[in-house]
Amino acid sequence: MNPELTMVAKTLSGLEGVLANELKALGAADAKPFNRVVAFTGDRRLLYKVNLCCRTAIRILVRVSKFNVADERQLYDEIREVDWSQYLDARGTLAIDPVVTNSTFKHSLFVAQKAKDAIADQFREASGVRPSVNLEDPDLRLNLHINQNIASLYLDSSGDSLHKRGYRAQTNIAPINELLAAGIIQLSGWDRASPFMDGMCGSGTFLIEAALLAQNIAPGVYRRQFGFERWKDYDAALYRAVFQEAEALERRDAACEIVGSDKDAQAVRFARQNVKNAGLEKSIRVDCKAFEEQTPPPGPGVLVMNPPYGERMAVEQINAFHRMIGETLQKKYSGWKVRIISGYPGAAEGIGLRPAKQRTFFNGAIECKLLEYRIPR
Ligand SMILES: C[S@@+](CC[C@H](N)C(=O)[O-])C[C@H]1O[C@@H](n2cnc3c(N)ncnc32)[C@H](O)[C@@H]1O
Repeated sequence: MNPELTMVAKTLSGLEGVLANELKALGAADAKPFNRVVAFTGDRRLLYKVNLCCRTAIRILVRVSKFNVADERQLYDEIREVDWSQYLDARGTLAIDPVVTNSTFKHSLFVAQKAKDAIADQFREASGVRPSVNLEDPDLRLNLHINQNIASLYLDSSGDSLHKRGYRAQTNIAPINELLAAGIIQLSGWDRASPFMDGMCGSGTFLIEAALLAQNIAPGVYRRQFGFERWKDYDAALYRAVFQEAEALERRDAACEIVGSDKDAQAVRFARQNVKNAGLEKSIRVDCKAFEEQTPPPGPGVLVMNPPYGERMAVEQINAFHRMIGETLQKKYSGWKVRIISGYPGAAEGIGLRPAKQRTFFNGAIECKLLEYRIPR
Protein backbone atom coordinates (compact mmCIF):
# COMPACT_ATOMS: atom_id res chain seq x y z
CA MET A 1 0.00 0.00 0.00
CA ASN A 2 1.24 3.45 -0.82
CA PRO A 3 -0.57 5.94 1.40
CA GLU A 4 -1.37 9.51 0.41
CA LEU A 5 0.92 11.84 2.35
CA THR A 6 0.17 15.44 3.32
CA MET A 7 3.40 17.35 2.71
CA VAL A 8 4.86 20.83 2.82
CA ALA A 9 8.00 22.03 1.14
CA LYS A 10 9.74 24.91 2.88
CA THR A 11 11.42 27.61 0.85
CA LEU A 12 12.79 31.15 0.99
CA SER A 13 10.45 34.09 0.94
CA GLY A 14 9.89 35.10 -2.70
CA LEU A 15 10.48 31.61 -4.16
CA GLU A 16 7.09 30.08 -3.30
CA GLY A 17 5.75 30.44 -6.87
CA VAL A 18 8.89 28.95 -8.44
CA LEU A 19 8.77 26.01 -6.03
CA ALA A 20 5.05 25.41 -6.64
CA ASN A 21 5.79 25.21 -10.40
CA GLU A 22 8.67 22.80 -9.78
CA LEU A 23 6.46 20.59 -7.62
CA LYS A 24 3.71 20.57 -10.26
CA ALA A 25 6.21 19.62 -12.94
CA LEU A 26 7.32 16.71 -10.72
CA GLY A 27 3.74 15.48 -10.37
CA ALA A 28 2.23 17.36 -7.40
CA ALA A 29 -0.84 18.65 -9.19
CA ASP A 30 -2.31 20.26 -6.06
CA ALA A 31 0.79 22.28 -5.03
CA LYS A 32 -0.37 25.47 -3.32
CA PRO A 33 1.97 28.29 -2.27
CA PHE A 34 1.73 30.02 1.12
CA ASN A 35 4.21 32.17 3.03
CA ARG A 36 7.60 30.38 2.68
CA VAL A 37 5.96 26.99 2.20
CA VAL A 38 4.18 25.09 -0.54
CA ALA A 39 1.59 22.50 0.50
CA PHE A 40 0.96 19.40 -1.60
CA THR A 41 -0.02 15.75 -1.38
CA GLY A 42 1.33 12.60 -2.94
CA ASP A 43 2.74 9.16 -2.31
CA ARG A 44 6.14 7.97 -1.16
CA ARG A 45 7.49 7.92 -4.71
CA LEU A 46 6.70 11.63 -5.02
CA LEU A 47 8.29 12.29 -1.62
CA TYR A 48 11.56 10.72 -2.76
CA LYS A 49 11.39 12.46 -6.13
CA VAL A 50 10.86 15.97 -4.79
CA ASN A 51 13.73 15.59 -2.32
CA LEU A 52 16.00 14.53 -5.15
CA CYS A 53 14.81 16.95 -7.82
CA CYS A 54 13.50 20.20 -6.28
CA ARG A 55 15.90 23.07 -6.81
CA THR A 56 14.24 25.65 -4.54
CA ALA A 57 13.03 23.61 -1.52
CA ILE A 58 14.84 23.88 1.81
CA ARG A 59 13.23 20.72 3.19
CA ILE A 60 10.22 18.49 2.64
CA LEU A 61 8.03 17.74 5.65
CA VAL A 62 5.41 15.01 6.00
CA ARG A 63 2.55 15.70 8.37
CA VAL A 64 1.93 13.07 11.08
CA SER A 65 -0.70 14.89 13.08
CA LYS A 66 -2.50 18.18 13.51
CA PHE A 67 -4.42 19.11 16.63
CA ASN A 68 -5.73 21.95 18.76
CA VAL A 69 -3.58 22.60 21.73
CA ALA A 70 -4.48 24.72 24.75
CA ASP A 71 -1.72 23.81 27.20
CA GLU A 72 1.36 21.70 27.68
CA ARG A 73 -0.56 18.71 29.11
CA GLN A 74 -2.63 18.52 25.93
CA LEU A 75 0.49 18.86 23.79
CA TYR A 76 2.08 15.96 25.66
CA ASP A 77 -1.06 13.79 25.40
CA GLU A 78 -1.61 14.42 21.68
CA ILE A 79 2.00 13.58 20.84
CA ARG A 80 1.83 10.43 22.94
CA GLU A 81 -1.26 9.39 20.97
CA VAL A 82 0.88 8.85 17.86
CA ASP A 83 2.32 5.35 17.56
CA TRP A 84 6.02 6.31 17.43
CA SER A 85 7.17 2.72 16.97
CA GLN A 86 6.08 3.17 13.31
CA TYR A 87 8.82 5.72 12.83
CA LEU A 88 11.61 5.02 15.28
CA ASP A 89 13.33 2.23 17.20
CA ALA A 90 13.57 2.50 20.97
CA ARG A 91 17.36 2.72 20.68
CA GLY A 92 17.19 5.26 17.85
CA THR A 93 18.05 8.96 17.96
CA LEU A 94 15.75 11.91 17.63
CA ALA A 95 15.77 15.70 17.12
CA ILE A 96 12.83 18.07 17.34
CA ASP A 97 12.85 21.48 15.61
CA PRO A 98 10.17 23.69 17.16
CA VAL A 99 8.58 26.73 15.48
CA VAL A 100 6.17 28.67 17.70
CA THR A 101 4.27 31.71 16.40
CA ASN A 102 1.43 33.84 17.82
CA SER A 103 0.90 31.41 20.64
CA THR A 104 0.47 31.26 24.39
CA PHE A 105 3.42 28.85 24.30
CA LYS A 106 6.29 31.29 24.44
CA HIS A 107 9.34 29.11 24.65
CA SER A 108 9.98 26.89 21.67
CA LEU A 109 12.70 24.92 23.46
CA PHE A 110 10.30 24.05 26.23
CA VAL A 111 7.76 22.88 23.63
CA ALA A 112 10.41 20.66 22.03
CA GLN A 113 11.27 19.23 25.44
CA LYS A 114 7.63 18.36 26.15
CA ALA A 115 7.29 16.68 22.77
CA LYS A 116 10.47 14.69 23.34
CA ASP A 117 9.25 13.58 26.78
CA ALA A 118 5.96 12.34 25.29
CA ILE A 119 7.80 10.23 22.71
CA ALA A 120 10.43 8.95 25.14
CA ASP A 121 7.80 8.02 27.77
CA GLN A 122 5.84 6.03 25.21
CA PHE A 123 8.91 3.94 24.36
CA ARG A 124 10.00 3.55 27.97
CA GLU A 125 6.59 2.28 28.99
CA ALA A 126 6.47 -0.22 26.13
CA SER A 127 10.03 -1.52 26.25
CA GLY A 128 11.94 0.01 29.13
CA VAL A 129 14.27 1.67 26.63
CA ARG A 130 13.99 5.20 25.26
CA PRO A 131 15.40 6.96 22.20
CA SER A 132 18.06 9.58 22.84
CA VAL A 133 18.43 13.09 21.46
CA ASN A 134 20.98 13.80 18.75
CA LEU A 135 20.59 17.30 17.35
CA GLU A 136 23.30 16.94 14.69
CA ASP A 137 22.64 13.62 13.01
CA PRO A 138 19.43 11.99 14.27
CA ASP A 139 17.70 8.92 12.83
CA LEU A 140 14.46 10.90 12.89
CA ARG A 141 14.07 14.67 12.70
CA LEU A 142 10.70 16.17 13.61
CA ASN A 143 9.28 19.62 13.05
CA LEU A 144 6.72 20.86 15.53
CA HIS A 145 4.84 23.99 14.44
CA ILE A 146 2.51 25.75 16.81
CA ASN A 147 0.59 28.68 15.41
CA GLN A 148 -1.94 30.18 17.82
CA ASN A 149 -3.75 27.09 19.13
CA ILE A 150 -2.99 24.73 16.30
CA ALA A 151 -0.09 22.33 16.41
CA SER A 152 1.21 20.44 13.39
CA LEU A 153 3.76 17.72 13.79
CA TYR A 154 5.87 16.75 10.79
CA LEU A 155 8.55 14.23 9.94
CA ASP A 156 11.46 15.97 8.20
CA SER A 157 12.21 13.80 5.19
CA SER A 158 15.22 15.79 4.01
CA GLY A 159 17.55 15.75 7.02
CA ASP A 160 20.19 18.33 6.21
CA SER A 161 18.83 21.38 4.38
CA LEU A 162 18.49 20.70 0.65
CA HIS A 163 20.64 23.73 -0.24
CA LYS A 164 23.56 21.56 0.84
CA ARG A 165 23.83 19.92 -2.53
CA GLY A 166 27.18 18.31 -1.91
CA TYR A 167 29.17 19.81 -4.81
CA ARG A 168 30.38 22.97 -3.06
CA ALA A 169 33.40 22.03 -1.01
CA GLN A 170 35.15 25.36 -1.48
CA THR A 171 33.62 28.75 -0.85
CA ASN A 172 34.71 32.33 -0.65
CA ILE A 173 33.43 34.52 2.16
CA ALA A 174 29.96 35.35 0.84
CA PRO A 175 28.63 32.56 -1.35
CA ILE A 176 25.04 32.71 -2.45
CA ASN A 177 22.65 30.10 -1.12
CA GLU A 178 22.31 27.39 -3.78
CA LEU A 179 18.55 27.36 -3.77
CA LEU A 180 18.36 31.16 -3.98
CA ALA A 181 20.68 30.94 -7.00
CA ALA A 182 18.47 28.26 -8.59
CA GLY A 183 15.38 30.39 -7.89
CA ILE A 184 16.86 33.56 -9.39
CA ILE A 185 17.86 31.69 -12.55
CA GLN A 186 14.37 30.27 -12.93
CA LEU A 187 12.77 33.67 -12.24
CA SER A 188 14.98 35.20 -14.95
CA GLY A 189 13.15 33.16 -17.57
CA TRP A 190 16.49 31.90 -19.02
CA ASP A 191 15.67 29.63 -21.96
CA ARG A 192 18.45 27.15 -20.98
CA ALA A 193 19.96 27.44 -24.45
CA SER A 194 21.28 30.99 -24.87
CA PRO A 195 24.56 32.00 -23.18
CA PHE A 196 24.63 32.26 -19.41
CA MET A 197 27.21 34.35 -17.56
CA ASP A 198 28.26 35.31 -14.07
CA GLY A 199 30.87 38.08 -14.19
CA MET A 200 31.68 37.93 -10.43
CA CYS A 201 31.24 34.23 -9.93
CA GLY A 202 33.01 33.65 -6.59
CA SER A 203 32.70 29.93 -5.83
CA GLY A 204 30.62 29.35 -8.98
CA THR A 205 27.18 28.69 -7.50
CA PHE A 206 25.15 30.41 -10.25
CA LEU A 207 27.17 28.65 -12.96
CA ILE A 208 26.69 25.20 -11.47
CA GLU A 209 22.97 25.71 -10.77
CA ALA A 210 22.51 26.99 -14.34
CA ALA A 211 24.25 23.93 -15.82
CA LEU A 212 22.21 21.56 -13.63
CA LEU A 213 19.04 23.24 -14.86
CA ALA A 214 20.07 23.26 -18.52
CA GLN A 215 21.06 19.59 -18.42
CA ASN A 216 18.11 18.60 -16.26
CA ILE A 217 20.42 17.11 -13.62
CA ALA A 218 18.66 16.68 -10.28
CA PRO A 219 20.49 18.76 -7.64
CA GLY A 220 20.19 15.91 -5.14
CA VAL A 221 22.38 13.48 -7.08
CA TYR A 222 25.46 14.71 -5.17
CA ARG A 223 23.95 14.28 -1.70
CA ARG A 224 25.33 11.73 0.70
CA GLN A 225 21.94 11.05 2.26
CA PHE A 226 18.37 12.24 2.70
CA GLY A 227 16.54 11.96 6.03
CA PHE A 228 14.04 9.44 4.64
CA GLU A 229 16.85 6.95 3.98
CA ARG A 230 17.00 6.38 7.75
CA TRP A 231 13.28 5.93 8.21
CA LYS A 232 11.90 2.56 9.23
CA ASP A 233 9.71 2.41 6.12
CA TYR A 234 12.56 3.33 3.74
CA ASP A 235 12.04 1.57 0.42
CA ALA A 236 15.52 1.38 -1.10
CA ALA A 237 14.29 -0.24 -4.32
CA LEU A 238 11.75 2.53 -4.83
CA TYR A 239 14.38 5.22 -4.24
CA ARG A 240 16.76 3.50 -6.67
CA ALA A 241 13.99 3.50 -9.28
CA VAL A 242 13.28 7.21 -8.68
CA PHE A 243 17.01 7.98 -8.93
CA GLN A 244 17.39 6.03 -12.17
CA GLU A 245 14.33 7.71 -13.63
CA ALA A 246 15.84 11.13 -12.85
CA GLU A 247 19.17 10.07 -14.38
CA ALA A 248 17.43 8.90 -17.54
CA LEU A 249 16.00 12.42 -17.96
CA GLU A 250 19.41 14.10 -17.82
CA ARG A 251 20.59 15.86 -20.98
CA ARG A 252 24.32 15.99 -20.36
CA ASP A 253 24.95 16.92 -23.99
CA ALA A 254 22.71 20.02 -23.91
CA ALA A 255 24.70 22.66 -25.76
CA CYS A 256 24.80 26.10 -24.23
CA GLU A 257 27.59 28.36 -23.22
CA ILE A 258 28.02 28.88 -19.47
CA VAL A 259 30.84 31.23 -18.56
CA GLY A 260 32.00 32.60 -15.25
CA SER A 261 34.71 35.00 -14.32
CA ASP A 262 36.15 36.56 -11.20
CA LYS A 263 39.07 38.89 -10.71
CA ASP A 264 40.29 36.94 -7.69
CA ALA A 265 42.54 33.97 -8.47
CA GLN A 266 41.55 32.05 -5.37
CA ALA A 267 37.83 32.45 -6.11
CA VAL A 268 38.51 31.09 -9.59
CA ARG A 269 40.34 28.08 -8.14
CA PHE A 270 37.39 27.42 -5.81
CA ALA A 271 34.87 27.78 -8.63
CA ARG A 272 36.83 25.39 -10.87
CA GLN A 273 37.09 22.86 -8.04
CA ASN A 274 33.34 23.03 -7.35
CA VAL A 275 32.55 22.70 -11.05
CA LYS A 276 34.77 19.62 -11.07
CA ASN A 277 33.02 18.22 -7.98
CA ALA A 278 29.75 18.53 -9.89
CA GLY A 279 31.29 16.78 -12.93
CA LEU A 280 30.55 19.82 -15.10
CA GLU A 281 34.04 20.77 -16.35
CA LYS A 282 32.98 20.24 -19.97
CA SER A 283 29.98 22.53 -19.59
CA ILE A 284 31.34 25.51 -17.64
CA ARG A 285 34.31 27.78 -18.34
CA VAL A 286 35.74 29.93 -15.56
CA ASP A 287 38.14 32.78 -16.42
CA CYS A 288 40.28 34.78 -14.05
CA LYS A 289 39.26 38.21 -15.28
CA ALA A 290 37.68 41.40 -13.99
CA PHE A 291 34.10 41.99 -15.12
CA GLU A 292 35.10 45.22 -16.87
CA GLU A 293 37.69 43.34 -18.93
CA GLN A 294 35.68 40.24 -19.74
CA THR A 295 34.27 39.76 -23.25
CA PRO A 296 30.88 38.07 -23.12
CA PRO A 297 30.08 35.26 -25.55
CA PRO A 298 28.03 36.33 -28.56
CA GLY A 299 24.60 37.00 -27.09
CA PRO A 300 22.20 38.11 -26.12
CA GLY A 301 21.98 35.88 -23.12
CA VAL A 302 21.44 36.07 -19.39
CA LEU A 303 23.97 37.64 -17.01
CA VAL A 304 23.49 37.02 -13.28
CA MET A 305 25.82 38.61 -10.75
CA ASN A 306 26.19 38.89 -7.02
CA PRO A 307 28.69 41.75 -6.55
CA PRO A 308 30.52 42.11 -3.23
CA TYR A 309 28.86 44.10 -0.50
CA GLY A 310 29.49 44.97 3.10
CA GLU A 311 33.20 45.41 2.42
CA ARG A 312 35.09 48.32 3.89
CA MET A 313 35.23 50.32 0.70
CA ALA A 314 35.18 54.09 0.84
CA VAL A 315 31.94 55.61 -0.45
CA GLU A 316 33.65 56.99 -3.58
CA GLN A 317 35.06 53.54 -4.31
CA ILE A 318 31.65 51.86 -3.89
CA ASN A 319 30.08 54.42 -6.19
CA ALA A 320 32.82 54.03 -8.79
CA PHE A 321 32.50 50.22 -8.60
CA HIS A 322 28.74 50.33 -9.25
CA ARG A 323 29.15 52.96 -11.97
CA MET A 324 31.64 50.61 -13.63
CA ILE A 325 29.00 47.82 -13.58
CA GLY A 326 26.41 50.12 -15.22
CA GLU A 327 28.85 51.32 -17.90
CA THR A 328 30.08 47.80 -18.69
CA LEU A 329 26.50 46.57 -19.04
CA GLN A 330 25.71 49.33 -21.52
CA LYS A 331 28.92 48.85 -23.46
CA LYS A 332 29.08 45.05 -23.72
CA TYR A 333 25.72 43.51 -22.87
CA SER A 334 23.27 45.11 -25.25
CA GLY A 335 20.14 43.00 -25.56
CA TRP A 336 21.06 40.85 -22.51
CA LYS A 337 18.79 40.12 -19.58
CA VAL A 338 20.66 41.05 -16.40
CA ARG A 339 19.93 40.08 -12.81
CA ILE A 340 22.02 41.61 -10.05
CA ILE A 341 21.54 40.54 -6.47
CA SER A 342 23.15 42.83 -3.96
CA GLY A 343 23.06 43.52 -0.25
CA TYR A 344 24.32 47.06 -0.83
CA PRO A 345 21.30 49.37 -0.46
CA GLY A 346 22.67 51.94 -2.94
CA ALA A 347 23.39 49.40 -5.70
CA ALA A 348 20.59 50.47 -8.08
CA GLU A 349 21.47 54.18 -7.81
CA GLY A 350 25.16 53.43 -8.24
CA ILE A 351 24.63 51.29 -11.35
CA GLY A 352 22.62 54.15 -12.75
CA LEU A 353 20.29 52.16 -15.02
CA ARG A 354 16.60 51.91 -14.32
CA PRO A 355 15.69 48.36 -13.23
CA ALA A 356 12.52 46.99 -14.80
CA LYS A 357 11.79 45.35 -11.46
CA GLN A 358 13.20 44.96 -7.95
CA ARG A 359 12.51 42.11 -5.56
CA THR A 360 13.71 41.53 -2.01
CA PHE A 361 15.36 38.30 -0.88
CA PHE A 362 17.39 37.16 2.08
CA ASN A 363 20.74 35.49 1.46
CA GLY A 364 21.17 34.02 4.94
CA ALA A 365 20.51 36.94 7.28
CA ILE A 366 21.40 39.60 4.70
CA GLU A 367 18.60 41.50 3.01
CA CYS A 368 19.33 41.74 -0.70
CA LYS A 369 17.69 43.40 -3.67
CA LEU A 370 17.38 41.53 -6.93
CA LEU A 371 17.61 44.16 -9.68
CA GLU A 372 16.19 43.10 -13.03
CA TYR A 373 17.38 44.82 -16.21
CA ARG A 374 16.95 44.41 -19.92
CA ILE A 375 19.84 46.24 -21.53
CA PRO A 376 18.61 48.10 -24.63
CA ARG A 377 20.17 47.18 -27.97
C1 LIG B 1 29.68 38.05 -3.14
S1 LIG B 1 30.96 37.30 -4.01
C2 LIG B 1 30.11 36.29 -5.19
C3 LIG B 1 29.66 35.02 -4.57
C4 LIG B 1 29.19 33.98 -5.55
N1 LIG B 1 27.87 34.30 -6.08
C5 LIG B 1 29.22 32.61 -4.90
O1 LIG B 1 28.15 31.97 -4.82
O2 LIG B 1 30.25 32.17 -4.42
C6 LIG B 1 31.56 38.59 -5.04
C7 LIG B 1 32.72 38.23 -5.94
O3 LIG B 1 32.97 39.32 -6.82
C8 LIG B 1 34.35 39.30 -7.12
N2 LIG B 1 34.69 40.63 -7.70
C9 LIG B 1 34.78 41.83 -7.08
N3 LIG B 1 35.06 42.79 -7.96
C10 LIG B 1 35.15 42.20 -9.18
C11 LIG B 1 35.39 42.67 -10.50
N4 LIG B 1 35.61 43.96 -10.76
N5 LIG B 1 35.40 41.76 -11.50
C12 LIG B 1 35.18 40.45 -11.26
N6 LIG B 1 34.96 39.95 -10.03
C13 LIG B 1 34.93 40.81 -9.00
C14 LIG B 1 34.99 38.97 -5.81
O4 LIG B 1 36.30 38.46 -6.02
C15 LIG B 1 34.02 37.93 -5.24
O5 LIG B 1 34.44 36.63 -5.54
